[in-house]
Amino acid sequence: MPLSVKHLLGINELTVEDIEQIFKTADNFKLVLNRPIKKVPTLRDTAIANIFFENSTRTRISFELAEKRLGAETISFSASGSSVSKGETLIDTVNNILAMKVDMVVMRHSASGAPWFLSQHIDAGIINAGDGINQHPTQALLDAFSIREKLGSVKGKRVAIIGDIMHSRVALSNIYCLLKLGADVMVAGPPTLIPKHIASLGVLVEYNIKKALEWCDVANILRIQLERMQKPLFSTLREYSLYYGISKDLLDSLSKKIIIMHPGPINRGVELFSDVADSKQSIILNQVENGVAIRMAVIYLLSGKRELNEQM
Ligand code: CP
Repeated sequence: MPLSVKHLLGINELTVEDIEQIFKTADNFKLVLNRPIKKVPTLRDTAIANIFFENSTRTRISFELAEKRLGAETISFSASGSSVSKGETLIDTVNNILAMKVDMVVMRHSASGAPWFLSQHIDAGIINAGDGINQHPTQALLDAFSIREKLGSVKGKRVAIIGDIMHSRVALSNIYCLLKLGADVMVAGPPTLIPKHIASLGVLVEYNIKKALEWCDVANILRIQLERMQKPLFSTLREYSLYYGISKDLLDSLSKKIIIMHPGPINRGVELFSDVADSKQSIILNQVENGVAIRMAVIYLLSGKRELNEQM
């Protein structure tokens, strides 16, 4: 079954069937990734450009590994050190890369909407690897896939997304993805970091972190994105960690054990303490592991190739 979209720009553009197809394909790729030879040659005739206009560790490495494990040729482009610093536009940059016969573009950009803009100007498939404060669709897919793996399904589970919701592309993509899959979703954090009308998306809003943790089966903890704040939205990081940081003492005070997630990078001692991040309740590194399988699935399904079964 092909996906209903040509590009992966945002989660809201995917159908539930698309997401289920991505998960089933990722299940198969996880089997491949646990074999001694972690590769299938299905995209050996495909060239993919990873163009990153904003910093990344996990997403960039995860996409590069996913592409290599599908047998694709990959090139990686960073804005720093490129001709972007000489004034070259986004479209010129990408068209020059495509002129070298590149088939697909994975793009991260600090401007919200940049992948949608690009999709109107180029023919190649585009995967959004995070645009500004807007969306991070593959992160939401790997997060939901990790919940499904741990709890058997996403439907009916209670997921609290906690922290800087206002500046988080992970939050918005997670909300769309989890609601589509039938989860109950709550956002929690300081009122200044929660958009005023977010309840209209169908999520609950809670400002008391302990109540949010008591409510949920899974807590996805988000980083404070100081780099995206024009002016301070809370007094100090110390005060934030005191009122909103997730510590072992806080988790131990709950009436049940919940699962802890974080998309990374973690600011240890601010939104999440090490005794939680490194505990058995945390599935943070499982999320990272699943990211490669999910990205292999997305790239494979968008490529339109239909020869996987014979190669696995
Ligand atoms: N989760 C995530 O997007 O991390 P990076 O910014 O390191 O890619």
